[in-house]
This record gives sequence, structure tokens and C-alpha cells, in this order.
Amino acid sequence: MTDSILVAIAWPYANSEIHVGNVTGSHLPGDIFARYQRLMGRNVAMVSGSDSHGTPITISADASNSTPMEVYQRYHKSFVELFMSLGISYDLFTSTHTENHFKVSQNIFLALLKNGFLFKESQLQWYSSAQERFLPDRYVEGTCYICGYNNARSDQCDRCGNLLEPAKLIDPRSRIDNSTPELRETEHYYLDLGKLQPDIVDFLKERESYFRLNVMRQSLGQIQSEGLRGRPITRDLDWGIPVPLETETGKCLYVWFEAVIGYLSATIEWAGVTDQPEAWHNWWHDQTAKAFYFIGKDNIPFHAIIWPGQLIGMGSEFDALFGSSVRAPLVLPYDIPANEFMNLEGQKISGSRNWAVWAGDFLSRYDPDPLRYYLTVNMPETRDTDWDWEDFYKRNNDELLATWGNLANRVLSFTYKYWDGIIPDPGELTDLDKNLLAGVEQGFSTVGKELEAVHLRGALAEAMRLAAEVNKYLDQTAPWTVIKTDRAAAARAIYTALRAIDSLKILLSPFLPFTSQRLHHFLGYKTSLFGTQFAETQQDSLGPHLTLRYNPEGAAGSWEPSQLKAGIQLEKPEPLFRKLDPSIIEEERARLGQTK
Ligand code: MF3
Ligand code: ZN
Repeated sequence: MTDSILVAIAWPYANSEIHVGNVTGSHLPGDIFARYQRLMGRNVAMVSGSDSHGTPITISADASNSTPMEVYQRYHKSFVELFMSLGISYDLFTSTHTENHFKVSQNIFLALLKNGFLFKESQLQWYSSAQERFLPDRYVEGTCYICGYNNARSDQCDRCGNLLEPAKLIDPRSRIDNSTPELRETEHYYLDLGKLQPDIVDFLKERESYFRLNVMRQSLGQIQSEGLRGRPITRDLDWGIPVPLETETGKCLYVWFEAVIGYLSATIEWAGVTDQPEAWHNWWHDQTAKAFYFIGKDNIPFHAIIWPGQLIGMGSEFDALFGSSVRAPLVLPYDIPANEFMNLEGQKISGSRNWAVWAGDFLSRYDPDPLRYYLTVNMPETRDTDWDWEDFYKRNNDELLATWGNLANRVLSFTYKYWDGIIPDPGELTDLDKNLLAGVEQGFSTVGKELEAVHLRGALAEAMRLAAEVNKYLDQTAPWTVIKTDRAAAARAIYTALRAIDSLKILLSPFLPFTSQRLHHFLGYKTSLFGTQFAETQQDSLGPHLTLRYNPEGAAGSWEPSQLKAGIQLEKPEPLFRKLDPSIIEEERARLGQTK
């Protein structure tokens, strides 16, 4: 059995479009990592879906006079379209509104109950007497009692990242009518995090040496300073997954409790739709499998504390209730490479003020690979970064196009011009040629090492450094001049450069899958580096549901240096990238903050 790698990507709320900050925060890093792992021949399952329940969706529905179902379906469809055009190669992108996910989530609730990790308690919850209803989570905003931020949600503060106890919120106000809610008693089930704490601490300590600092700080750091207490995991809401107990009518599972379960239920769903219903065990029951969770920093406590707690607490009891053929503890997260945030032109991205670069809108004017490139060189891996249109323009023209696109294009065009597009026979390679090829070959381990550690910026920088080396080599060997006096020397340099480019194509392909594929074609290959993506609609008792899937068939790329041979006929090349006009900088800046 080859190594199984789960690439678990945070589930976007189906209540707004996706902007570049979301792309660089989770979807793109997950995709780069998954593509690399596939090239390495590993058994990859990359899953996510639309987070379709909870107050984010019901509040949007109220605001737009539609139903939660309509809101979820509308955004879900736009996510599927976006990931298709951006090449985010989900094995399965589904949603939490499926029969399968309901069943898995309810069984996990019951497993935790059975294992003694849930307790029932009465809590004070915000209530609107005018509306005669409870106002859970995002229905109430106010001032964070920890950091003083005045737009905190009652369940979580976006500034300090802490999970909050709703009743402690200062100056609470209702999102529905801005009124001041009152506190009322209501009974809920709690996840007993206090009881799970020793196991969660062990889990974190085992990973301390390689977890990102932001993740450690918001998990182990937090636990060591404050300890863990029970968190209510049911809500007085009617849109969501019903609590599977007859006594609990009108209550749903807390959206965060069930959304994280999506990673498991999506893998199960994927196994089913690919006709290998038992395959999900490879990622969830084989303890050699490695699960990587790609998330933004605001998701840290849910992935580093609560989800591991749920997994530990359910043990193999979930399997018993679900009827799994394997009964064993589930695989805990191996790594949680959470990203910081990306700002925009010096300000925080804000959907409501339209201070955002919407990924779908971007792709109506530009190509996907330049976006993937810019978002990777600027990925907020260790600190917040900034999207700057001038910087985008420069990175596109001066790096992506100048260092890489032009390199590939001039070598291919030259071969076309002087050898009719047939790779020339190099004869005996010189030391200079061999050194260049050895340097590029070395890239498969240096770039690979960075990718394994989820240092994606570093990995891309290393691949681009190698492209610059090839440019230097061509400056030195100057085939364009040498061709006039020494055709054999020019042939040697061109052959060497073609082989280097063929390798660079692979090294860059996790980042730039579209242009690497085009280059692969220009280099005369008839194969595809990667599989194909397609949308498909499933049907279950909750209605039709759209999915995005990845078909690995025909994927011929592998993480190995070029073996390009003389005599191969190339295809007629075309430029890989478009040169941008500097006028786009002001045009794009003028769009920011405009009403849509
Ligand atoms: N919907 C959440 C957000 O956008 C992320 C959920 S991740 C999951 O912040 F794992 F819980 F699904
Ligand atoms: Zn705060």
C-alpha cells in the first residue's frame, strides 16, 4: 500500500463568494500540496465542501429574503465553478447538506454520548423576546470580553481568535434588529473538553516540533494558560442537522461540531461514488496515513482542539454505530498548516464593503496560473501579507513571464526555427551542461523537501531560482549567436536547456498546473500531467446535490527529472503568459470598494 495522504481543506461557508484571501489561505495551498503528493505517487484524497448550515447561512437568507437552501445552493454552485477554473483539484468537493453527512455526524454525536464525553446542561443564551426565539452564535455581536474588539460574534472573536462564551459578551446586540437581547435559560449538550484535555494535550505535544507557531499558540498555549471547559454543541435552530435524540426536538447540531466531521463524511462519500466503498479506511483507520488540514488562522481552535477532541472521544464507537467493517480509532491530524491573513492594498479584506478581489471576477480578466503564482509568492504562511496590484503586475511581468515564460518560449521557438522543431542531438555534453542538469535534478529533492514541510513559498522560490540558473546558462552558452559559427555547440546548449525546462515544468506544475500542461504539450508529449475535474449531481433524500470531482485517470506526471531524448518532434510553441499593461494597476485599484 502506498502512503495515504488526506488533504483536508476548510469548508467555505456557502454565504458569500470566495476572495483571494480565502484562496491563498486554504484552497490553493491544499491543492499545491495534493498535486505534489500525487506526482510522488501517493494515495491522495483531497476533500472539502460547502459549509451549508448554521447562522452564517440563515442570517444571509434573512438578509436576502431567500431560504437557507437557496443561499447554500447558489454559493455552492459558484464554488464548484470557481474551483474548476482555478484548478483546485478536489477529489471531492461536496457539502454538509447530504444524507451521508447527516448520518455520519449524528453517529458521532451518539458515539460521544455513549463514551461519556457529552453532558447536558442548562446555559444562559441570548434571547429575543420580540421574535420569541434564541439568538445563537452570529445572531449576536458585541464587544469581546478578552480583547475589547467591538465586532465580536457571540461564539468567536475574529480579532483575538478566541472562542467565546456568549453570555459574557459585552454590549450585545441582535443582528436581526439591533435590539439588546436578554439572557434566558436553555438546555444543551456539551462536548466535555475538560475530560478530553489530557488526551488533547498529548496530541499537541507529540506534534509540537513541527506545528506552526500560530497553531501552537492558539492550542497548547491556550490550554496551558486557561484549560479547557465544555462547549455546547447543540443549538436552538431549525436549519441544520437534527440532534438525533427524541427529547431534543427543534435543536440542531452546532455548525462547527458537524462541519469538521465533513472531512470524514466526504471521504466516505468519495469512496462510495468511486465504487470502492471500503477505501475510506485507508485515510481514517490506517494509522500510517497522514492527514494535513489547510485552514486560515480563524479556524485554529476548531481544528487543533475540538476536532481532535471529537476524534479521540468517539474512538471506535463511531464504527460500531455506523456499521463500519473496520473498528479502530480514527486518524488524528498530522499537521495543521494554518495561514495568517492576506490584506488588500493595506486594508483588511471586507466582503461587505466590497474591499476584495473576488476570485471568480479576477478570472474573468486574467488567467489562473498568474493568480496561483502571485498568491503563492505572497502566501501568508508566517505573517499577514498584502495583495497589491502593482506588485501583482510586476510579479507577472518581471518574474513569471521574464524568468520562466520567456525562458520556455525562446528555447522552444529557437528549436523550431533552426531544427524544424525536432530536438537536436547534443553529442557529448560538456561539464557546464552536466552541471546545469545536475543542479536542476537536485531541485527534485530541494523543492520536494520544502513541499513536504508545507513551505510552499520556499518551494516556489527554489523552483524559480533554478529557472534563473537556466537563464544564466543560456547567457553563457549563447546558442543564438553561436549558431552562426558552431551549430553543434548550439545544439548541445539547446538540448540541455530543453531538458532543464522539461524538468522545471514538473517542479512548477503543482503551482502552475495549466501552463505546465501546455508546456508539456509543446514539448511533444501526448499525455496529461494530471487528471481531470468534472461536476456531477448526486441525488439523495435531501434533494439534488452538486459535487466537484477529480478523475485521476490518465495522469502521467511524476516527480522525476526529464529524460527528454533527441529526435522528438515538438509542437509549435506559444507564449505561456500574457504580458500585462501597467494601466491595469489603476484600473483595478479603482474597482476596489465600488458597489457591485
Ligand atoms: N466554514 C468555516 C469558515 O469559513 C470553516 C469550516 S472548516 C470545517 O470559517 F472543517 F469545519 F468545515
Ligand atoms: Zn477578542
